[in-house]
Amino acid sequence: MRNWDSLYHFLSLCVSLLPSFAVSEILFQGFNWDSSNKGGWYNSLKNSIPDLANAGITHVWLPPASQSAAPQGYLPGRLYDLDASKYGSKDELKSLIAAFHEKGIKVVADIVINHRSAEKQDGRGIWCIFEGGTPDGRLDWGPSFICKDDTAYSDGTGNLDSGGDFSGAPDIDHLNPQVQKELSEWMNWLKTEIGFDGWRFDFVRGYAANITKIYMEQTKPEFAVGENWDSLSYGNDSKPNPNQDAHRGALADWIQAAGGAVTAFDFTTKGILQAAVDGE
Ligand SMILES: *[C@@H]1O[C@H](CO)[C@@H](O)[C@H](O)[C@H]1NC(C)=O
Ligand SMILES: *[C@@H]1O[C@H](CO)[C@@H](O)[C@H](O)[C@H]1NC(C)=O
Repeated sequence: MRNWDSLYHFLSLCVSLLPSFAVSEILFQGFNWDSSNKGGWYNSLKNSIPDLANAGITHVWLPPASQSAAPQGYLPGRLYDLDASKYGSKDELKSLIAAFHEKGIKVVADIVINHRSAEKQDGRGIWCIFEGGTPDGRLDWGPSFICKDDTAYSDGTGNLDSGGDFSGAPDIDHLNPQVQKELSEWMNWLKTEIGFDGWRFDFVRGYAANITKIYMEQTKPEFAVGENWDSLSYGNDSKPNPNQDAHRGALADWIQAAGGAVTAFDFTTKGILQAAVDGE
């Protein structure tokens, strides 16, 4: 937890340097890439809630909670199954969220929907039979729900992908109205049944911005942010160009096309700061 202490100091410094700005929301990433190795992450994060509340954190982002082919949660399969996560059980998650709420901290779910890992192979031997993890067949899909141009998995009946390809798993066809309906229902279940308040949309470059708009409208989160991570523009010396206006503009354009209610991680500033501390 020592690195968290320095984060608090950094945040307090930011707040004190900007006295004329009203800081309304501070989102804290409540895990890192190694947290799935620790065993019982949900339970251990609970111990940090008083410190996070004292530091002025208003929102905490939790890792993807569904059953996943990769321990960190970013290759989800049975989306309704929250009992197969390395971070802890569904009951432990609900208890963690309730404890954050007691301190007035809102909880943001990591929504990984661009791609999905299959439960079974079909007659062709292709991994493309999805199971949602409920007895009544919610989110039980086959290859027709995969983007037509993801040819390693699709059966050629879906729509073309409306965004970039994710190579590690089948890309889901978000132009299919049944996909939009069933995923919105799942997200609303995360709100009503589990207690989540908002969304962090993973890999939104993988589908059109107007698709994020649909999920925003159908689930009405209290807060949402998209991971629209694109490369900065680089010069011949392989350093970022001083002018990154186009990169920043693309983020702003994405927010507008996604309906204006969702926010975006500021990867432009992140990239510039990274160059600044890397010898600039
Ligand atoms: C969203 O955008 C995609 C391509 O960018 C387009 O094919 C699709 O028709 C649009 N859908 C809606 C609902 O506007
Ligand atoms: C980058 O290299 C190209 C080809 O050598 C040259 O024409 C161009 O002026 C260079 N650009 C900058 C910003 O140095």
